[in-house]
Amino acid sequence: MQGDISLYEAIGGADTLDQMIPIMYKYIQTHPDLIPIFPGDFEESARKQYLFLTQFLGGPSLYTEERGHPMLRKRHLPFEITPSRRDAWLSCVKKALDEVEVIEPYRTIIFKRLSMTAEHMMNSPES
Ligand code: HEM
Repeated sequence: MQGDISLYEAIGGADTLDQMIPIMYKYIQTHPDLIPIFPGDFEESARKQYLFLTQFLGGPSLYTEERGHPMLRKRHLPFEITPSRRDAWLSCVKKALDEVEVIEPYRTIIFKRLSMTAEHMMNSPES
């Protein structure tokens, strides 16, 4: 981060997330390891992810305003998240960051932060 600028601002804010999140969900919704655990309304999943990532990157607190405290690990407990599903999810994030050409070094920083959060979301051994 540079001075007072948030990651959100540094990468181009809402415009960039508007481009990136649909790409991320295009990959999630066609990934054979991820399809079985997603409820099916990918537009709604993408919408919630938009609210969350806005806040996660230092933009407005859209997620908390609508859904309350994130409690992400708890919200993921109903879904079996194995190491291979973590890797699958991260591969979709990576492709979206790359396709939108999120500016470096922020692309790498954001991917590392999401990798750490994804690690924390695992709740099941490989099935
Ligand atoms: C590790 C791999 C992950 C898998 C397989 C996974 C899968 C899922 C699934 C199945 C849902 C429920 C459907 C939905 O409401 O969209 C969900 C919700 C959600 N996920 Fe993940 N997720 C992963 C990691 C993450 C990470 C790292 C984040 C944040 C950085 C995240 C953020 C969210 C958010 C914000 C929701 C909506 C929660 C709600 O308000 O109900 N997920 N995820």
